[in-house]
Amino acid sequence: MARASLRLKSASCQIAYWKGGKLRLANYLTRRTFTANPVTLGLIQFFFVPHTIADAVRAFGAYSAASVARAIVKLVDAQLLLEYRSAEWRRDQLLEASWGRWLPEAGFHFMTKDTPYVPWDWPIAKKLRLLAARSAPAQFKTIRGAERIRLTLPAPATDSFFETLRARRTHREFANGKVSLESVSRLLHTTWGVQGYFHAEVVGRVPYKTSPSGGARHPGEVYLMALRVEGLESGIYHYQAREHCLARLPGRATARIASDYCATQPYFGKAAALFIMTAVFARTMWKYGRARAYRVVLLETGHLCQTFCLTATRLGLAPFCTAALRDSLIEDGLGLDGISESVLYVAGVGLLPRRPPAPPPASS
Ligand SMILES: Cc1cc2nc3c(=O)[nH]c(=O)nc-3n(C[C@H](O)[C@H](O)[C@H](O)COP(=O)(O)O)c2cc1C
Repeated sequence: MARASLRLKSASCQIAYWKGGKLRLANYLTRRTFTANPVTLGLIQFFFVPHTIADAVRAFGAYSAASVARAIVKLVDAQLLLEYRSAEWRRDQLLEASWGRWLPEAGFHFMTKDTPYVPWDWPIAKKLRLLAARSAPAQFKTIRGAERIRLTLPAPATDSFFETLRARRTHREFANGKVSLESVSRLLHTTWGVQGYFHAEVVGRVPYKTSPSGGARHPGEVYLMALRVEGLESGIYHYQAREHCLARLPGRATARIASDYCATQPYFGKAAALFIMTAVFARTMWKYGRARAYRVVLLETGHLCQTFCLTATRLGLAPFCTAALRDSLIEDGLGLDGISESVLYVAGVGLLPRRPPAPPPASS
């Protein structure tokens, strides 16, 4: 930091806002925020071209050299000024290059990453204290004064499609034993596999999958964490949808790692396999330049997860899903940069426990 030749550059990934009458500056990649004097903004603008501290002292001659240097040190601490060509600068550039079309709005994705979770083993009374003081909002909406047309309740379904929908539950207990590789293959192929191809205007040949995808861009990828799969070594695999095969990755798969990935929820470490869903945002961004399309990527992950849960249910397995994830830990484990491809959702399966959660009563 003390080197006179050191050149600094403002982080591209930063945002300024007012909170409680104070100016807040945030680097939404590193999530460092700090309260700043509005004068600091001029300094940040100056460093959008790489400069040394001496350059800044000269340019801001109306201020004492010591005060300019102090402000710069604070900006470096807050990672709003980065050492030019450093590893941090490169990561900042990667974000700018990969997400440029959706920034700053999609900075939300990065600002909210690695959120802290309430420890699962806290007593319920302690957890309750975290809820809003007011009672929970009404679970159902009613519209006063509107005419109401009664609907006959559908006859109990005998069709396996409706039965599967009703039978799906989130499982947190699993029987010991392994799931078959055939079931894993079926889950992967049904949820993420290519069912065929069609020719779309503008974009050309695109895959059909069982879930819809905005612009048929299919940004979703999936990684299998095999913990107890018959005939498959425990480990991490990437599912290659085009060839319907698994590519082995160096990462490790243990109950502890699985639970840690899912915000230390111990029950998910007892599952037989985790299906870690990520998105390659560039696929969707290429077609949709507006940040609103970020929502499309999230929605699609939900489609995939529901297909997964229903398929697992139909196979007689015990599925679950969780969005309580330790994003950076997972991305490091999968060897992802967390920028061009990020984790969004995790689903998993185990064998049905002896006493699975009861399905809803037929009349509900
Ligand atoms: C986006 C999402 C995130 C969830 N995250 C968790 C989680 O972190 N841990 C958990 O035990 N269940 C999680 N669940 C499951 C819900 O708790 C469950 O769906 C809900 O209690 C209703 O039960 P059911 O799935 O059996 O109908 C999640 C569900 C969704 C849709």
